[in-house]
Amino acid sequence: MILIASANGEVGMAAGWAVLQAGGSALDAVEAATRPVEANPDDHSVGYGGYPNLLGEVELDASIMDGARLRAGAVGALRGFRHPISVARQVLEQLPHVLLVGEGAARFAAELGMAAENLLTAPAEQAWRAGLAGRLPDEFRDAQGQIMERMLARATRLATDPERVAGTVNFIAQDAAGHIASAVSTSGWAWKYPGRLGDSPIIGAGNYADDRYGAAACTGWGELAMRAGTAHSVVLYLKAGYALEDACREAFRDLGALGLPPEQCIMSMVALDRHGRHCGVSTSPGRSYVYQADGMAAPAQLPRLVLGTQV
Ligand code: GLY
Repeated sequence: MILIASANGEVGMAAGWAVLQAGGSALDAVEAATRPVEANPDDHSVGYGGYPNLLGEVELDASIMDGARLRAGAVGALRGFRHPISVARQVLEQLPHVLLVGEGAARFAAELGMAAENLLTAPAEQAWRAGLAGRLPDEFRDAQGQIMERMLARATRLATDPERVAGTVNFIAQDAAGHIASAVSTSGWAWKYPGRLGDSPIIGAGNYADDRYGAAACTGWGELAMRAGTAHSVVLYLKAGYALEDACREAFRDLGALGLPPEQCIMSMVALDRHGRHCGVSTSPGRSYVYQADGMAAPAQLPRLVLGTQV
């Protein structure tokens, strides 16, 4: 058994590990592990307390994948519910669909009996106001101080804070039966255009799991992973016989084909192969990931391998 996560997943490791230790499934473990991260108000990249979009609305994305049968569920731009991962899980379990977005996702969460609430915390609102104040000239606002509708597209470019586009939480688990599952949850790019989806709810982009080969999950600039199909690429490279780190290296090299300047190539990933080997990789130095495996009393941190995106 093994559970791995991006470093901000540390607060969820105990919940996920408890499921695995009790003989539970990898799918249950990654959902259970994700929920404490979504409830953590100090994590401004996920769930409650996440940074809002350009208009100050918190919009959440999440996906979950069962590598045993390639079943998946996802939600995008979900407003007002703090556990998008559990809504995604129920999309997987109850609907003949994979992805619900916006009002449809909120409708389904309400139908499930989940409680609606305001997810914008005071610190997140303060950061949003300060972030926009420093970046948007007065002509973007009407007399009430609101950003004018016809200015939203231009405002999105100006308001982007490169330090706040990439946060997300990843979990991948392998249970005692050898099944693999993965979960990804995020509030996405801070001050994004309303309705923007990143890679996290897109199966194959930010999340992919297949018992036969392994799994990968991304944090970083979501648009890159969407364009390159990054998480699925890792699994396909595993299928082609690459070792785990080499599979990640090839998927990062594919990002080089996007032709972006290096400062925009921001990508991190955790990955697991079917033998239980794991790694964390990133385009940025100094990053870590967490894991817990059989025989370990507590999770441990490991450094991520720094990979380039040169073609
Ligand atoms: N990787 C998270 C996002 O781009 O929304």
